[in-house]
Amino acid sequence: MKSGTLATLVAFASCAATTGVAFAQVKPETLVKQRQSAMTLQGKYFGPLAAMAGGKAPYDAAVVARNATYLDLLGKMAWDGFDPGTSGEKSRALPEIYKEPAKFKEAADKFQVEIGKLVVASKSGNESAAKNAIGDIGKACSACHDDFRSK
Ligand code: HEC
Repeated sequence: MKSGTLATLVAFASCAATTGVAFAQVKPETLVKQRQSAMTLQGKYFGPLAAMAGGKAPYDAAVVARNATYLDLLGKMAWDGFDPGTSGEKSRALPEIYKEPAKFKEAADKFQVEIGKLVVASKSGNESAAKNAIGDIGKACSACHDDFRSK
């Protein structure tokens, strides 16, 4: 690495450290859009799996494996969008998210654990375990929506 590049990097790093607050300040309406986008994509990639697990579509191991990977990542994206600073924005997020953050986190963690099971099952080609995991993911989606999303 050229020393000039290094100097620039060091300058940037120290600048980022002192202005860290400014970096973290994403507009509330942007956070809402981001978390809803992550959820929309979860819906997109979970839908076909739910159809397969429910016997409404033929089981396709390649699609299950691919979508499981997507869901594993998407499942990590929405949560930092649920910031108390977004409470004033129009959305379907209920105030309970901020009143009971531990309970909300528990619901998010549970969901992530179920996705992890699907990733494992889809990699090993275990169709019945994958279908069970898909069912459990669906329950985790609904459980959180019941408690933390308005109708
Ligand atoms: C830990 C809680 C939680 C889990 C788990 C969860 N969601 Fe959500 N979801 C929410 C909340 C809260 C909202 C409302 C967000 C808003 O309006 O800002 C939402 C909104 C949505 C939306 C509407 C997005 C929009 O554009 O308004 C869809 C679609 C969705 N979720 C799908 C899913 C699917 C599919 C799963 C499971 C694979 C899932 N969610 C798991 C909490 C959760």
